[in-house]
Amino acid sequence: MDFKGMDILSTEQFSRGDILHICDVAKSFEPVAQKKETSDILKGCVMASLFYEPSTRTRSSFETAMARLGGRTVTVIGEADSSLSKGETLYDTGKMMEAYADVIVMRHKIVGSVAEMALGASVPVINAGDGHGQHPTQALLDIYTILKEKGRIDGLKIVMAGDLKYGRTVHSLLLLLRHFDVKLVFASPAALKMPAEYENFLREKNIPFEVTENFGEAITGADVLYTTRVQRERFDDLEEYERLKFAFVVTRAFLEEFNPDITIMHPLPRVGEISLDVDELPGAAYFRQAANGVPVRMALLAMVMGKV
Ligand code: NCD
Repeated sequence: MDFKGMDILSTEQFSRGDILHICDVAKSFEPVAQKKETSDILKGCVMASLFYEPSTRTRSSFETAMARLGGRTVTVIGEADSSLSKGETLYDTGKMMEAYADVIVMRHKIVGSVAEMALGASVPVINAGDGHGQHPTQALLDIYTILKEKGRIDGLKIVMAGDLKYGRTVHSLLLLLRHFDVKLVFASPAALKMPAEYENFLREKNIPFEVTENFGEAITGADVLYTTRVQRERFDDLEEYERLKFAFVVTRAFLEEFNPDITIMHPLPRVGEISLDVDELPGAAYFRQAANGVPVRMALLAMVMGKV
């Protein structure tokens, strides 16, 4: 499996073997991520970190991954502070950045924008989130988290809940889960349901899934709840957002009633959809999940730069 020079644009590009291999490489970086060992395998390498949309975890965990492997980062934050605001195309930005950096990590609000930059740049380009499209590195760390928390993926019943329409993390994750023998349940208000293109994709591949608006019923008997924030920034009508934002809230009382043992994941940030009293439950995995971003992004950076 050679990832050298590869762009990472969508989880559609990965096979089951690729996913498990990335998780193995990530595991081998755990001692470095946990600050027990040091490494300089990316010494002399530069990562361009281009974040035209807000980010906390994704950008800082990529930059931490790079730093702990001995590499350096150059950062551009916000469209207003970049030459995109002067009308420069993403293609041109990519062409120019290849002279500065060995790898480009990019987030932008427009679906397909990262692929456009990848056309311009000859160095590997990694999608750190393109609008409501894809967020492949998050999905890989989500798979890594499920493996760490549950010891397996095959045989699990996994509920995706919240904003399935605009949530790019669930879109990316389901394209990875299609390689495993899982039961998928999509729980959301009708207005936030999984887009037809993703449901059709699962149908074509004969992957069974259930769709429900009944949250309690959805998590009963499930192994993992992957819940998400309603994506305020993707709504044209903010009244609609206000109506939907707390449609599916996870509280301790709710979990105790329907499934106290479930593993709870969330890409974060949470903005009210998981109450604080859930945090001390053993199944509350979302902060461990965020920490897993570092070894997984170390693995991806080292792989696309041909160092492992
Ligand atoms: C997610 C994103 O940006 O899509 N955050 C993240 O990268 N961890 C989820 C979100 O913003 O709701």
